[in-house]
Amino acid sequence: MTVNMKKIAAERAVEEYVRDGMNVGLGTGSTAFYVICKVGELVAAGMNLTCVATSEETERIAKDLGIRVVNLSEVNNLDVTIDGADEVTRQLHLIKGLGGALVREKIVAASSIDQIVVVDESKLVESLGKECPLPVEVMVFGHEKTKRMIERQGCKATLRMRDGEPFMTDNGNYIYDCKFDGIANPYFLESRLDTIPGVVENGLFLNMTTAAFVARSDGTVEKIC
Ligand code: A5P
Repeated sequence: MTVNMKKIAAERAVEEYVRDGMNVGLGTGSTAFYVICKVGELVAAGMNLTCVATSEETERIAKDLGIRVVNLSEVNNLDVTIDGADEVTRQLHLIKGLGGALVREKIVAASSIDQIVVVDESKLVESLGKECPLPVEVMVFGHEKTKRMIERQGCKATLRMRDGEPFMTDNGNYIYDCKFDGIANPYFLESRLDTIPGVVENGLFLNMTTAAFVARSDGTVEKIC
């Protein structure tokens, strides 16, 4: 039988980190989907949880499951956020944003006491950016100029498209997927990207993660912390 790695990683994280009365951040994507489903089960069983969604899609799924979803401004802080990732290193540095929700994901992660990542084994890498492009969210205004400044950091930046149109985020911005030949110094790159006018946020999540649950095809789940 095929193991559903996304599901077992998500369920392990929820079982270990979500407790009655908590404020919980809900991630976005196909792995976070199983987090939302598990949280929905806990709520249905009577657990009192208040949740903040990292995307409109997550909010819709959560509300359909009867989960109480509030705005981030309505809670003092979040006890835990559980989210997926596109790449994870053993130092718990991440690339996120292939699902297009990186800005809200980063704000929610930064508002959480614990940020927990759930992935299948294909996402665990030695170093960031060798395979996966780095998503960078930019303002629509002047985005071609912003692209040129991003590419000066040593990458090829491609405007993300969907159905023949530029992909638009929940925040009304565009995303450039930036292919580096590996990211040797993610802290330096992040600081450079942060200074480019028009860049809203980048998908590097450095020093934000408490633990990662990595599911393997044999059904085991490794916790990295
Ligand atoms: C959403 O913007 C992303 O950061 C996702 O968390 C990430 O792309 C992982 O998604 P999957 O779990 O669907 O692979």
